[in-house]
Amino acid sequence: MRFGYFDDKSREYVITTPKTPYPWINYLGSENFFALVSHRAGGYCFYRDARLRRLMRYRYNNVPTDVGGRYFYINDGGEVWNPSFAPTKTALDSFECRHGLGYTRITSERKGVRASLLMFVPQGHTAEVHELRIKNTSAGPKSLKVFSFIEWCLWNAYDDMTNYQRNFSTGEVEIERGGSTIYHKTEYRERRDHYAFYNVNAPVAGFDTDRETFFGLYNDWSAPDVALKGVSSKSVASGWSPIASHGLDVQLAPGEEKTFVFTLGYVEVPRADKWEKPGVINKKPAHALIEKFSTPEQVAAAMKQLADHWSKLLSNYSIESTDEKLNRTVNIWNPYQCMVTFNMSRSASYFETGIGRGMGFRDSNQDLLGFVHLVPERARERIIDIASTQFPDGSAYHQYQPLTKRGNNDVGSGFNDDPLWLIFGVAAYIRETGDYGILDEQVPFDNDPKTKTTLFEHLKRSFNYTLNNLGPHGLPLIGRADWNDCLNLNCFSETPDESFQTTGNKTGRTAESVFIAGMFVGVAPDYAFLAEKLGFADEAKKARGESSKMSETILKHGWDGEWFLRAYDFFGNKVGSKENKESQIFIEPQGFCVMAGVGVEGGQAKKALDSVKERLDTKYGIVLNNPPYSEYHVELGEISSYPQGYKENAGIFCHNNPWVIIAETMIGRGDRAFDYWKKIAPAYLEEQSEVHRLEPYVYAQMIAGKDAVRHGEAKNSWLTGTAAWNFVAISQYLLGVRPDFDGLRVHPCMGGEVSKFTVTRKCRGAEYRINVKNSGKGGAPTLTVDGQPIAGDLVPYAKAGATVIVDCEV
Ligand code: BGC
Ligand code: NOJ
Repeated sequence: MRFGYFDDKSREYVITTPKTPYPWINYLGSENFFALVSHRAGGYCFYRDARLRRLMRYRYNNVPTDVGGRYFYINDGGEVWNPSFAPTKTALDSFECRHGLGYTRITSERKGVRASLLMFVPQGHTAEVHELRIKNTSAGPKSLKVFSFIEWCLWNAYDDMTNYQRNFSTGEVEIERGGSTIYHKTEYRERRDHYAFYNVNAPVAGFDTDRETFFGLYNDWSAPDVALKGVSSKSVASGWSPIASHGLDVQLAPGEEKTFVFTLGYVEVPRADKWEKPGVINKKPAHALIEKFSTPEQVAAAMKQLADHWSKLLSNYSIESTDEKLNRTVNIWNPYQCMVTFNMSRSASYFETGIGRGMGFRDSNQDLLGFVHLVPERARERIIDIASTQFPDGSAYHQYQPLTKRGNNDVGSGFNDDPLWLIFGVAAYIRETGDYGILDEQVPFDNDPKTKTTLFEHLKRSFNYTLNNLGPHGLPLIGRADWNDCLNLNCFSETPDESFQTTGNKTGRTAESVFIAGMFVGVAPDYAFLAEKLGFADEAKKARGESSKMSETILKHGWDGEWFLRAYDFFGNKVGSKENKESQIFIEPQGFCVMAGVGVEGGQAKKALDSVKERLDTKYGIVLNNPPYSEYHVELGEISSYPQGYKENAGIFCHNNPWVIIAETMIGRGDRAFDYWKKIAPAYLEEQSEVHRLEPYVYAQMIAGKDAVRHGEAKNSWLTGTAAWNFVAISQYLLGVRPDFDGLRVHPCMGGEVSKFTVTRKCRGAEYRINVKNSGKGGAPTLTVDGQPIAGDLVPYAKAGATVIVDCEV
């Protein structure tokens, strides 16, 4: 069952009912100012940091779901409704929500009034713009009372929902232009140099800034006093909960339409200029921002700028084929999600509250893989930020805070896969750009300027961190956890509320990870290549030697006969072996070891992938492990805490499915790879939305596995490494166009279902048009470049500005 449809031409997903199985959201903003917006106008916005600079209050885990947003109440002859359906839920004659790239437009109609609400963050500005069009579609005149509504968050979103003894007394506002501009200035008197405002470009009949006055005590969101009465109260908040609501009288002749532009902005003021006069804030910067978006023409121009921005970004990789689901995933939604994950990391979604996690070291490096072709300069900056949180021994803070860029001491370090991800990220950046100069960039350890050294030295410490931390079998020690945060082999926790990751009470050097071993082998050729490039031939040689040694170790101690083992636990027992009662096989080492090429020659790779097919594949994707743990194992940690089939205990992790997909292409089984991909790619799941339940335009982190009560149900959409890895899988391995150090590799491997397609790839300033005739047989492609046959699959990079035609038969 579907709840909408894709409008590919407009690059939109169109939701046709307010009653989707869960709020289906979108993100606004791509620089410093961001917002989440659901199809019912729920959500909130913030400046840079979702915890510390939150503008709007939002109530997570509430009843009903999705409370708090930008709400417009329309009182038409005593009946009150919202274009976004929520919060009144008054029946509508029509409803449509269009989520587009950086904007959302909700259009509804009721009894001869059509309201259309456009929300977006203009490029280069710190504001959410709301354009509300109201049209009289009836035969008679309409006299409407319209009320805007947003609720301010008192900036620090965590404090805002916990510290009521203080914050019920701190709220302050100012009102200007008769109520057309409402300022939120809580804490501006003391240490804040920023305030927010909500403006409408028209004279108002009234306003409200006090929540209780607007709603009336004990009323809920569906029946605010002010909207029901049709008259604003001109309330002035003092403490409690400040809001901003404009009251508009809207008279419309038959067929007439009126447009109002609202600006919800954030400004910072230099400390010396904070006040206009004692107690009165300096409104100049707000006025300047308001000026820029006070007419529908300005809004249209800003929307055009946004659309052009996205057209340009998306043109870096695009495909034309007969499979429209493939096209829309590759051309629109997957890169869009990659941008969002790059910006948000794992901070703010409808599953992440924006107050918890900082930027992950591992996560951000992986996010880069799907983002680097969009804006390489920002990827470069991110790499330097991440590397600056590394420690001198090569280990790294697991997370850092986006506002300060400092490592997070609460979580600390000790996730032993982290350092190697930095090499992945840097290699992907250099492949895309050819910017070897980044390796000479001076980067500190733990943000201490005294410790600055080259970025290459950071990579060296990363690589050697693994070598310096090997266990009894010569495999890498796992530390607190590797990619799988929930495989906690050194944390024997029997006390509720302890963190599974950071309450490490076993400091022994025994628990080993075959997954990290696979990563090490996978990253070694890139590391060696870069070392050689910089003239460190010995280091390159050493790296290659250690890599083959690790490969052998994996095949000796990390091979279980039919698949790769997952780990050795604290006691030296095998994890992920046929000898185990439960969780005999895990997905991660199968994907990563084969991607690294381990066992490809000896046939183990094929065996491992066949075991994946046999034991882990389901109709909704590949589960993480099988059979799931049915009991809590203190020596394994959080993984065994989850009910069977959910999350890391045999859920379908859409993040590591692409590792198997890529691995399948490594052994030439494109049809199987493409099938796996289609099982989890959201556009292909649209018809099953009642089962999947989340947005059909973006990936979710997890789909409940075959042992779960709700097999096929997704959770945790948007912010997941899934976005980047699936983009890598589809664009670089299935469609097979991937930048390498010395040229663009063209090697499609996706079975025969899509018999021909054209990929347009911009890279290093040149454009490649790659026409593929795809027989589906796989094997080595035959290529011509501008009509000339070439040997192999590497198209040399052309000069910036060139257009190169590549014909490929495979
Ligand atoms: C979740 C993981 C997540 C981790 C982050 C765990 O509870 O299951 O998916 O990565 O927390 O700390
Ligand atoms: C989510 C985390 O953000 C990511 O770093 C981790 O790899 C996965 N969970 C799997 O545990």
